[in-house]
Amino acid sequence: MAATNTKTQPPSKDDEMWFGFPMHFYQGFWLENMISENVDTFQTHFQANDTDIILASLPKTGTTWLKSLLFTIFNRKFYSDVSKHPLLTTTPHELVLQLEFDVYKNSLGCNPPNHTEIPSPRLFATHIPYLPLPESIKTSKCKIVYVCRNPFDNFISFCNYWIQFNINEGIKLDIDLMEEYLDKYCKGIVPFGPYEDHLLGYWKESLKNPEKVLFLEYEGMKKEPKSHLKRLAEFVGCPFSEEEEEGNVIDEIIELCSLKNLKEVEVNKSGKFFGRVGNKALFGKGEVGGWNNYLTPSMAKQFDQMLQKLKEAGFSFTHYKT
Ligand code: A3P
Repeated sequence: MAATNTKTQPPSKDDEMWFGFPMHFYQGFWLENMISENVDTFQTHFQANDTDIILASLPKTGTTWLKSLLFTIFNRKFYSDVSKHPLLTTTPHELVLQLEFDVYKNSLGCNPPNHTEIPSPRLFATHIPYLPLPESIKTSKCKIVYVCRNPFDNFISFCNYWIQFNINEGIKLDIDLMEEYLDKYCKGIVPFGPYEDHLLGYWKESLKNPEKVLFLEYEGMKKEPKSHLKRLAEFVGCPFSEEEEEGNVIDEIIELCSLKNLKEVEVNKSGKFFGRVGNKALFGKGEVGGWNNYLTPSMAKQFDQMLQKLKEAGFSFTHYKT
């Protein structure tokens, strides 16, 4: 996610750098130093309501898309006139706030922000892995929607995004840099990673408690958006009526939230919710298999250990063949 909090802490000897930003290993995941206070406050103070919906994801797996879809599903009754839809004037990240970046931004631990008056259902997002989530998210009846993406495209998306944030401006994503970061990524050193721990944490919980956690794949959503949208709406307790299904409501939502459409919205082209590099950094090509244009076969082999770990845990992608 974006570097909206400017309070960057100096690196310590145990830090790893991620495109110029120091990260440390914390409660089993890699956390950017600049948001460690936010995460502490989020963990200590957040009280989930039974009606909350939490979107969970690793960065660069489809968060922006899912935020758009969830917001639109919940608010469809208010915006039957699509030309007045908030997604045409506001970036999806402002409509569904990220708990550790936006809600608890710059918080000091003693003064949690007042988000308790937001009418339910409240929609929030987080990149924090399952285990270190605040207890109330796990114990309440709130629902979690998790989206994953194949690690190859996720890695390239990470690089293309973070290269823009690198404090050494002008730095290029050349083969040497890519190899350096591929090595880190495959060792699990990536914001909110290791990748496989993040994915498996939510996946296992979705098997144990399918009423609580819906596990989605970015590739599946691309392949079969309509069936996924129906499943998503049902899961969050906002199913489409027969009338809506027979009309073109679902297709309209798919179209409104499509990458092609959101990319052309002015606020997503020139807005600055994401600071210096702007909102446009969130909208790339969104391809499945685009990594083939970047990685050599020997680079791709470096993912083997990670894929093996997923396999040993019994996980395989339904919509992506590795
Ligand atoms: P690429 O970098 O492959 O283009 P996140 O939202 O979690 O940061 O993920 C970003 C990825 O999702 C980017 O992928 C981006 O292009 C893609 N994306 C953004 N909005 C999307 C949408 N509405 N539909 C599909 N993909 C989208």
